[in-house]
Amino acid sequence: MKKIFEEITINKLTLPNRIFRSATWEGMCDDDGRPTDQLIQCYRDMTEGGIGLIISGYTYVVQSGKQLPGKMGLHTNDFEDDYRKMFNAIHEAGGKIAIQLVHAGGQANPKVSGCPQEAPSAIEAAQFDSVPEAMSETRIAEVITAFGNAAERAANWGADAVQLHGAHGYLLNQFLSPLTNQRDDNYGGSIENRARFSIDVYNEIRKRVGPDYPVMIKLNACDELEGGLQIDDALYAAKALSKAGIDLIEVSSGTGASGDKTPVRTGINKPEKEAYNLTYAQKIKEAVNCKIIAVGGFRSLETAENAVADTGLDGISLSRPLIREPNLAARWKSGDTSPSTCISCNKCFVPGLKKKGIYCVVDKD
Ligand SMILES: Cc1cc2nc3c(=O)[nH]c(=O)nc-3n(C[C@H](O)[C@H](O)[C@H](O)COP(=O)(O)O)c2cc1C
Repeated sequence: MKKIFEEITINKLTLPNRIFRSATWEGMCDDDGRPTDQLIQCYRDMTEGGIGLIISGYTYVVQSGKQLPGKMGLHTNDFEDDYRKMFNAIHEAGGKIAIQLVHAGGQANPKVSGCPQEAPSAIEAAQFDSVPEAMSETRIAEVITAFGNAAERAANWGADAVQLHGAHGYLLNQFLSPLTNQRDDNYGGSIENRARFSIDVYNEIRKRVGPDYPVMIKLNACDELEGGLQIDDALYAAKALSKAGIDLIEVSSGTGASGDKTPVRTGINKPEKEAYNLTYAQKIKEAVNCKIIAVGGFRSLETAENAVADTGLDGISLSRPLIREPNLAARWKSGDTSPSTCISCNKCFVPGLKKKGIYCVVDKD
């Protein structure tokens, strides 16, 4: 039986425990996407707080893929020294970090990116502010290469792993979803075609980083939108990615347009509301060979332990509880097992949007 405070090996990377920091936009980079000392401190706090693996905030691979301010960029060679400094600081503190790679597609913000929005299809969607430009096959090939370039930079500069953002309505998810992908070429139509972009991106990254480097994906099991990606198509994508060689899938759900079923659900105030992607994660776990973790609403050690012991997941991941309490994993390990005091209000986004960097605004007394 697996235990939460037990080692896990992902490809050649061994982690001290199975509590992951789920990717969380920190809003702590400069306007060009360069990591700052504030971000390094944020990662050091979580490392010293006992987290198994930090997954960075979503990091754009091309300028047009930028959404929120203060987001990290890996679209250029210019930031090599800054990234090396950040990775060294985390390693010196004894931690490990994966970089989450993203293109926001139709959810990008032209005011922040300075570029028009691009997406699989030029259509209106509830999660898009305006109608994006449809990507040509040439543009698709360029973006696949850009994902490869970014992954190679991360690996060469010292990141321990990369994670593709295939969830929450961003570009990979837009290709997977029949709602936002209405193409009639090899990238649209059947789920085989809609999954092609994610597989091509994965294959390009694997080619660049080699067989021994951990490559993961955060995948929506369901968009929680009528006409959007549903579990059966997600299962197809998970199986295809697992067969192609992906090392780990982190299971999430929802988009910014999914109402109560947003990826970042509020009001998790009783055990029944915790772990809201667990059933989806279990279904995917049963269908694939790669490692599976679940994100979404884990607040107590007991729920996390049950997810790995009873459900057989390989780990769990946390976002908001670590904004409030970066040392939560160490606290639980030390024997203080009271649940996270995060009230899931989502007010942590507010200071980030004001370019101050995210933090928990709720009184800690
Ligand atoms: C401030 C904030 C920023 C987030 N940024 C990202 C991100 O960059 N990439 C991502 O995949 N999910 C992002 N998320 C979603 C979280 O990773 C996670 O899936 C969600 O918050 C549910 O987990 P939790 O209940 O542990 O917070 C963000 C969530 C918050 C609150």
